[in-house]
Amino acid sequence: MDYGFDGKVALVTGASGGIGRATALAFAASGAAVVVSDVNEAGGQETVSQIMAAGGKAIFQHCDVADTSAVKALVARAVSEFGRLDFAHNNAGINLMGADEYQDEVWDRSIAINLSGVMYCMREEAEVMLAQGKGAIVNTASINGLIGNGRQPAYTATKHGVVGLTRHGALRWAKSGIRVNAVCPGVIETPMTAPMMANPEMRKVLDGMTPMGRLGQAEEIAGAVLWLCSDQASFVTGHPLVVDGGTTAI
Ligand SMILES: NC(=O)c1ccc[n+]([C@@H]2O[C@H](COP(=O)([O-])OP(=O)(O)OC[C@H]3O[C@@H](n4cnc5c(N)ncnc54)[C@H](O)[C@@H]3O)[C@@H](O)[C@H]2O)c1
Repeated sequence: MDYGFDGKVALVTGASGGIGRATALAFAASGAAVVVSDVNEAGGQETVSQIMAAGGKAIFQHCDVADTSAVKALVARAVSEFGRLDFAHNNAGINLMGADEYQDEVWDRSIAINLSGVMYCMREEAEVMLAQGKGAIVNTASINGLIGNGRQPAYTATKHGVVGLTRHGALRWAKSGIRVNAVCPGVIETPMTAPMMANPEMRKVLDGMTPMGRLGQAEEIAGAVLWLCSDQASFVTGHPLVVDGGTTAI
């Protein structure tokens, strides 16, 4: 779907692969200039190369979203390079599957990246969008931001936190032209879930858990992000949009 984003500028964190890369490619295909960001420079540069090969416009900026000064520099780069910031997809995140999230170090790292990182990004992006009088932010939460997960306290808490931050931002900036929404993916085939998918038994279980009988693709999340950013969603704000093949409908 081409939303006609020519002249618009989009920023995507966690864009070296998976959902972030799919969103960056989709924004570019719709005409936006894209600021691709990640801690993984090689993957981020590959996303930029793919965009340029398809005739789009993109730059890479290294950014650890848990570092406030790096986030400031990221948003400043978007403005210095392209002059504005219309859309932001705050997508960087970790899921330390198998790790004991009750351990201080694992807990702290999850909070820093998955939750504080989203807040730092939103805060900086909103400054630019407030000055423009318009903008759209989409945060990547998860179905674990809406329902419980008995194995992962940190992942579950951070993703619930992202939904809370999204609702906060939506209310805070509702009269200022900035819409803030979240996407809540179910299980999606990306580098994050690849280790689980490598086990055929696990793959069968996960496929079977989803009412549609299959896992989601990164492009299916990108489609939701672009719609939320577009004027087609002009009255949608504060919404955690579930994209999960029916998992949370059960
Ligand atoms: N894949 C799924 O099933 C699924 C389901 C629900 C939610 N999500 C969420 O979607 C988002 C994207 O995940 P994905 O599935 O594409 O996996 P992914 O691992 O491919 O993407 C995550 C990206 O975030 C980057 N990243 C990690 N720490 C960072 C940091 N400190 N600063 C900046 N970038 C950092 C990684 O390098 C990676 O490129 C995450 O927030 C994840 O929690 C994924």
